[in-house]
Amino acid sequence: SQYQIAVLVGSLRKDSLNQKLANGLIKLAPPGFSFTQVQIADLPLYNQDDDEHPAPAVVRIKNEIQSANGILFVSPEYNRSIPGVLKNALDHGSRPAGQSVWAGKAAGIIGVSTGAIGTAMAQQHLRNVLSYLDVAVMRQPEGYLQMREGMFDPDGNIGAGSRAYLQNWMDKYVAWIRKNAA
Ligand code: FNR
Repeated sequence: SQYQIAVLVGSLRKDSLNQKLANGLIKLAPPGFSFTQVQIADLPLYNQDDDEHPAPAVVRIKNEIQSANGILFVSPEYNRSIPGVLKNALDHGSRPAGQSVWAGKAAGIIGVSTGAIGTAMAQQHLRNVLSYLDVAVMRQPEGYLQMREGMFDPDGNIGAGSRAYLQNWMDKYVAWIRKNAA
């Protein structure tokens, strides 16, 4: 594929709605885009003492992010912010100083919640962090989703009721990546 996208999902839960959203969403992408999830569950907790001797999982995710043309963040909101597992991955990728893998990347962020605000506050926190990390995040359309019956069909596709909205989101996302990929 022309564009390799690294997908980061902010939930480790087996039945994660955000994992389902990520899986369904990437099926809406056009040819020329391939999506590979960056596994973050096996990362150690970030400790600056380890910068000189990073764990294999840290080296792996840094390589995966570095070689990607774009990033897709799909995350729940935890206590009005991003889950610690996602912040941990962001911190790992940002260090050692001067060797961040995030700088200059293009990205999109989206998330689904059981709550009415659909991860809006978590996404704003994530935008704040990514702005500092010099990631070009798509501004519009925003993607705030509240879980509804039928959002996913039994085969893991996006259900009919959410399909037009998410197809438009994906169309704008791929245009953003084409324009901003380093
Ligand atoms: C939540 N949840 C939640 N929802 C929300 O809309 N805003 C919030 O601040 C929080 N806070 C929060 C904290 C913690 C620790 C948990 C476990 C959950 C509910 C959350 O939206 C719901 O559990 C989702 O199903 C989590 O996403 P996944 O794991 O299904 O992808």
